Amino acid sequence: MITTTSVNHLHLKSTPFTVKHFKDGELYVKVPKVKGKVTVVASLQPPAENILELAFILDALKRQNADIHLIITYFGYSRQDRINLPGEAVSAKVIANALKGVKITAFDVHGRLSRFLRFNNIIPVKQFLPFIPKDVVIVAPDEGAVQHAKYWQKCLDAEIVFLKKSRPSHDVSEITSIKGNVKGRNVLIVDDMISTGGTVIKAAEILKKSGAKNIFVAATHGVFADNALSKLSKSPIKRIFVTDSLPQRKHRLVKVVSIRNLLSKVLYS
Ligand code: R5P
Repeated sequence: MITTTSVNHLHLKSTPFTVKHFKDGELYVKVPKVKGKVTVVASLQPPAENILELAFILDALKRQNADIHLIITYFGYSRQDRINLPGEAVSAKVIANALKGVKITAFDVHGRLSRFLRFNNIIPVKQFLPFIPKDVVIVAPDEGAVQHAKYWQKCLDAEIVFLKKSRPSHDVSEITSIKGNVKGRNVLIVDDMISTGGTVIKAAEILKKSGAKNIFVAATHGVFADNALSKLSKSPIKRIFVTDSLPQRKHRLVKVVSIRNLLSKVLYS
């Protein structure tokens, strides 16, 4: 197994490889001699350098005719999967093209990426369950999260409340409507990731106004970009649950659950 530096926090036993920078900043990758099956575990956050490193690893392994299984714990760039404004790039497709030709398992990736790339999508839910209060109403904070919420529903057997979200500009979200009743209920907002925190904060605000009791959030990937954690601390959210698909710092609001066991199952299946 080869793991990239971005998944060091998962402490997986792996074969070392060489990665260094030339003086001009270019990246150099050299993998050891391999034969047969090779598993590569990578996370694409921060995205740019990690994607390049991974593309070089895959190239080096393909040159030895390795049978590669790529496991991506966090798939950077997967959100930009369509054109919203004329002239935009479909970044997800560019990255998908760089990763083609190997078997891929990824953790909780935006659904539309499957239009460009074949991969097995794992949505961790059971790992969260011991920490989720009983009798919560599940909340899908936007249309993209509906499938995710339905997946949660199978495990929790709870109602789903649907919110509608718009994005007036990059990294800014607004909730425009709420479908369902949360008055006096504990709610659990579920999503694939928290980046700026805008989506879940706006969702929590409207849920509070609509009479929700305690508001919890479960998201697979805690990106917590910029000052997200400080904004989330001032929001009506009581507790946030994320996995260690990305390295996490300790924070009183955040409980981290591990995907290590799930990862081991994928590795040894
Ligand atoms: C959007 O499509 C995703 O599922 C998340 O809702 C979104 O990426 C969260 O981003 P932020 O925390 O910046 O609102």
